[in-house]
Amino acid sequence: MSDLSAAMTAVDAYLRTESDRFVEELQDLLRIPSVSAQPVHKPDMQRAAEFVRDQCTQAGLAAEIIPTAGHPIVYAEWTRAPGAPTVLVYGHYDVQPPDPLDQWVTPPFEPTVRDGRLYARGSTDDKGQMLTHIKSVEAWMKTAGALPVNVKFVIEGEEEVGSNNLDIFLEKEKQKLKCDVAVISDTAQFAPGVPAITYGLRGIIAVEITLKGPQQDLHSGVFGGSVANPANAAAKLIAALHDDKGRVRIPKFYDDVVPLTKKERAEFARLPFKESQYLKGLGLKKPHGEAKFTTLERRWARPTCDVNGLISGYTGVGPKTIVPAQATIKLTCRLVPNQKPKRIVESLRKYAAKQLLPGIRMEFQDHHGAPGVVCDLNSPYMQAAREAVAAGFGKKPVMIREGGSIPVVGSFKQILGVDTLLLGWGQNTDNLHSPNESFRLEDFHGGIKSSAHLWGELGNGSTKAAPG
Ligand code: BES
Ligand code: ZN
Repeated sequence: MSDLSAAMTAVDAYLRTESDRFVEELQDLLRIPSVSAQPVHKPDMQRAAEFVRDQCTQAGLAAEIIPTAGHPIVYAEWTRAPGAPTVLVYGHYDVQPPDPLDQWVTPPFEPTVRDGRLYARGSTDDKGQMLTHIKSVEAWMKTAGALPVNVKFVIEGEEEVGSNNLDIFLEKEKQKLKCDVAVISDTAQFAPGVPAITYGLRGIIAVEITLKGPQQDLHSGVFGGSVANPANAAAKLIAALHDDKGRVRIPKFYDDVVPLTKKERAEFARLPFKESQYLKGLGLKKPHGEAKFTTLERRWARPTCDVNGLISGYTGVGPKTIVPAQATIKLTCRLVPNQKPKRIVESLRKYAAKQLLPGIRMEFQDHHGAPGVVCDLNSPYMQAAREAVAAGFGKKPVMIREGGSIPVVGSFKQILGVDTLLLGWGQNTDNLHSPNESFRLEDFHGGIKSSAHLWGELGNGSTKAAPG
């Protein structure tokens, strides 16, 4: 037996004996309601950061909490493998708001196991997935007393609100964060039994548009028809966002879009995807989107524009006859690689201003933005990742793109000059951002095992002499 396979055997055995404790510790983290968007949870953000720091310390990493203008970042490292590659692991301990609360079978911050799934807000996105890498480090440290690679961990608390303070940290600590490759587990497998590596993500812009009319709500009989209604104006603006072929009508929106290649389209088409099943899982009968593109193309490689929230007028029970004083539209566009977030925001701002009814004033807030990314499929790191995922899940991964966004991936490329391995252990059916979010325990354990093997594969020599 080679040194590596002997070490891996010991690590795998450790993972088996400690597996229940790992789940319990994940549950402890899930009990902390670290909702980054809601100011009342500020103390919980600190508590969650402390919990993650302690997990890192317990695993054998040197860990600290770094304050930011927003929520704190946890930084941890172990760098005593000279000559071996250095891997930067990123994750986030913040979660989305749990609403609508009445739709949860068990409360979002009371983690519960049912049918092999751990239910709680943040279970898959991203506390459970992030923890897999800390546990795999622990397994190596407790069995071999060392890691085969150098690791640096950045676990932040603002991913779900756009990571606005992270780039400042990355710029400032560029030297300390020097690495060969980054690893993130915050995406999904293609399906249960079909592990995947994600080589592309969409980017995003998020804005909030408030349309203001009369100084206060008015009687719609007394005044209606003589003044512009901000809710009607919002509807007009929203209707102007798409043509009837599903294309976005914001000027210059498609200017920088790189078209899908024939090869990539063929590869998407080869994946085991059943549209009827996909629609059924969503309670739908028909797909929708940009004409001439398949569902996977629309989800992964075409830009979009979606209203995420719409607030106006009377929303209580029964009728109420008013012209509301204002209307607010929360809106995001998903972007594909090469589209420039700033350019799209400016183009949208101008276009929205042109749609206004007379007498309506617009306030336009730019919340956050991040570019779309595609990563190198042929790097030696990618090869190591394929082997590691195959070891963890018992099957070779398929290569996919995904439609969600992880802002830091673009920042790692731009600021640190490294590609990211997007190794998602979750499933699209985990209800992330939705009620009843869950993480399959087998995916949690498969993720820990994959991660442990990744350290072995990356440290195995094949990647040491990687170019760059
Ligand atoms: N984990 C998701 C991103 C994701 C999910 C990527 C599934 C691929 C597949 C992440 O936590 C997330 O939701 N990100 C936000 C980013 C935004 C707030 C800047 C998103 O995509 O909406
Ligand atoms: Zn996430």
